[in-house]
This record gives sequence, C-alpha cells and structure tokens, in this order.
Amino acid sequence: MNETEAGSLLESLRTVFDGRLLTDAHDVEPFLNDWRRRYRGRTLAVAQPTSTAAVAAIVRWCSANRVAVVAQGGNTGMSGAATPDDSGRSLVVSLTQMSAVRAVDTVNNTITVEAGLTLAGVQDAARAADRLFPLSLASEGSCTIGGNLSTNAGGCQVLRYGNARELCLGVEVVTADGEVWNGLRGLRKDNTGYDLRDLFVGAEGTLGIITAATLKLFPQPAARLTALAAVPSPREALALLQIAQLELGSSLTAFELLSDVCLELVAEAFPQCQRPFAEASPSYVLLECSDPESEAHASERFERVMMQAFDAGLATDAVVADSIARSKALWALRENVSAAEAAFGKAIKHDIAVPISAIADFIEATSAAVESRFPGIRMVVFGHLGDGNLHFNVASATRFGSAQDESRFLAMQEDINRVVHDAVAASGGSISAEHGLGVLRRDESARYKSPVELELMRRIKTVLDPLGIMNPGKVLPPSVLG
Ligand code: MLT
Ligand code: ZN
Repeated sequence: MNETEAGSLLESLRTVFDGRLLTDAHDVEPFLNDWRRRYRGRTLAVAQPTSTAAVAAIVRWCSANRVAVVAQGGNTGMSGAATPDDSGRSLVVSLTQMSAVRAVDTVNNTITVEAGLTLAGVQDAARAADRLFPLSLASEGSCTIGGNLSTNAGGCQVLRYGNARELCLGVEVVTADGEVWNGLRGLRKDNTGYDLRDLFVGAEGTLGIITAATLKLFPQPAARLTALAAVPSPREALALLQIAQLELGSSLTAFELLSDVCLELVAEAFPQCQRPFAEASPSYVLLECSDPESEAHASERFERVMMQAFDAGLATDAVVADSIARSKALWALRENVSAAEAAFGKAIKHDIAVPISAIADFIEATSAAVESRFPGIRMVVFGHLGDGNLHFNVASATRFGSAQDESRFLAMQEDINRVVHDAVAASGGSISAEHGLGVLRRDESARYKSPVELELMRRIKTVLDPLGIMNPGKVLPPSVLG
C-alpha cells in the first residue's frame, strides 16, 4: 500500500474513532515485534480504544475497508500471534487502555475485568477482596488477561486450578462484523447450546476480540510452602509427583521440573540466582503446597512427602523455603529459565503435552534421539510436570559466534521439530500445550490434526470471520483456509 492510500485510510478511520491512534514510526515500533523477536510485521497504525463500543466501531470500519485486525495485549506471547503480518494492511488494536475492574462478587466468587488489565492487576484486585485469582505466569506484570484468554495460557498452577479457559466463566466479545456479544455470565452451570465462550477462548483473536471476561475466584490459602528437591531423573520426579498428590491432594498447587542445564543458564544470566545445593543434580522439582489451615500444618504434610521421597531414593537433597523471600528466590530459579535461555541465544522451542504417565519415557527417548541426530546442541528441558506440559527446548551447546552461526542453528528447526513432534504424536500428545499456535506452530499443528478436525476448524473460521480480517495468518495455515 502506498503512502497516499494509507493516509486516506487513516483519515477515514478518524471519522469513526477519535481515541488514541499511534502512527509515528517510533511510537508504533514496540507493537511490531513479538517478545522473542522471531517475527516482525507492519501496521497502518496502532489504535488504543478505551471502551468496547470504540473497539466495535474500529472493527466495523476494518470490515468495511477490508483492513485486518490484530488484537494485542501485553505483547508477551510466545508464538507470534499478536504480531501483524508484513502486508501493511492491518491495524493493531491494543487493548491495554481498557483495564477496568467492572465488578467483584465475593458471594459468587467472580471478578469481571476488561481485557487490557494485566494478569498481576487481576490478581491484585482479587487479593484486595480477600480472594485468589490463581493464574500465574512469569510475565504476569505485563501480560493482559485478554491475551491470557485468547491464548488459553497455562502457567504454574494449572495442576490445581486449571488453565485460563477453566478459570473463565464468561466473555464479552467484539465479533468480526463489529457487533458486541455480551456473554459475561458468572455461571458455573449453563447448558444452553453451543459453547460460544469456548470458541473465543484460545482462538488467538482469529474469530473476534475478547474485550472483557468474568473469571472464577478462590479462597486465599492460609499458608504457602515452596520447596526445591534434587532428583536423579524425571522418572524419580514422576514418582515423587504421585507421592505428593496422595499426601497433599488439592493443596499441591505447583510441581515443576527443571534440568540442571536450566539452573546453569539461570546462574549465568542472573548471578544472584544460584542453585541452593552444594552438588549439582541432573534434575530438580519445584513443589508448592497451598494449605487451607496453617504454615505448621503445611510443613508437617510437606515433611511427610519428603521423608517418603528420601526413603524411596527419589530425592537426594531438598530445601524448603522458610520465608517469603526464600520462596521468591526458589521461584526465581524457575521463572527466570526462559529469560536466561533467551540471553544465551535463540533456541528451538517446543511447548508440548503428553499424558503424564508417558512423560519420563518421552524425555529419555526423545532427548537421546535429538542428541544423537543433531550434534552441537544441548537440551533445555523444564516445565509443568504436574500437567504433562514440557518446554522441551533445543539450544546450541555453545554461544553463537556470529549471525551465520545463529542462522545455521535455526535452519535445523524443521528437522528437529519433526523428531520431537513425531514423538509427541506417537505418545498421544499435543504440540502446543499453553503458548498457542500463532505463526510459530500453525503449520505444525495442521500437520498433526486429522482432515476432519481441520475442516471443522476451517468452517468455524469462515462462518465467524467470512472476510478473513481477524488476525489473518494465525492458527490456521492459508493452505487450509483455501
Ligand atoms: C514457562 O513455563 O516458563 C513459560 O511457558 C515460558 C517458556 O516456555 O519460555
Ligand atoms: Zn510454561
């Protein structure tokens, strides 16, 4: 599109939207790249509406003018879903100026918030009402609840509370033709036909824009205990999970696996975050227990878990955090893995899920297969063992000396994906557990889905977005949409 056409489109947009519209190259820049800097696009402008009515007016205008709509929250996504393509004929609709808490109902245990509120903002509003909103991610200070729902984010407490979808009771959506669907129902039971809410959750902005949501709240636990256990391998970690689940029941709120390579990367990138053990161990488990009674009760239960683990040779060492600061320090080891990995250099990332019972075999066999076929790499394996979700990443064994080194490494992506994703499929797993498909995993997902499933998805997309303006190029490949 030439400058004159872009100018007249923007002039026309101004007739329906008089809110904040960023057009200056410098102002627009942060919205054009994804967090991992794997994708870069172009946009006509960035609109920052402050109301659902304004979002609807913008989408109606986009529909009339065949301009693509790319909804964006905190821009912390992992799969490039919120980055515009490079056509230049799209408008980024940033929801961050819509961040109101519309209602808190402590009897119904729900909170209704606008899409642009940060996840930490939702947690804070819940805490102010003496309730817990349990979705928890490393990026919670900047990711937004609209983005969390659109990607069906997971994080570290899915084991107990479920992912974003399971925490959502209702949504308000601006449809592809600019209508507003108010589905903000705070109901735990609602069997009135097709579940439209669940179509928009996880759709990554390809069917409509989530502008607000009604979410579940929970009681705040009386005490939280965090521990890090050194374990010989993921197999022992899995056995420890069973013990912890039997002893702690629903009080077990996190069970995260880390390989020693992860802690090495973290220690290098964040010198204040060192492994709390004198000796390194091949793997570690970070456990969290949220106790409804007291800290003493939690400690007692935790101790029982750890005694059984030591007796059975499942753990070789453990530290239990005895203060909030200590607990934060243990969590920092886990939450900084992604940033530490990025600081080392680009990696070939996987966000896979397999049945929990298959996870130890999967790690052992697939790590060996990748290591033998691709010399010069090292596995960076961590994630949400309690959910069967691993970040099964493949990194260069040494830092890239040049841009060519990096390109040579990234050129192996397709071959490495094939080994990893074929193994995932053979285990009955998913190639995208909590990060969404975006562009990064769009074609891979289509490869492993059956023709029937793809055709159903295609039909849903074409019915809800007949002009194909909602976040084009994401979730479904053009080859499927035809
Ligand atoms: C995590 O579990 O730390 C996140 O999903 C981030 C990542 O995979 O990089
Ligand atoms: Zn994760």
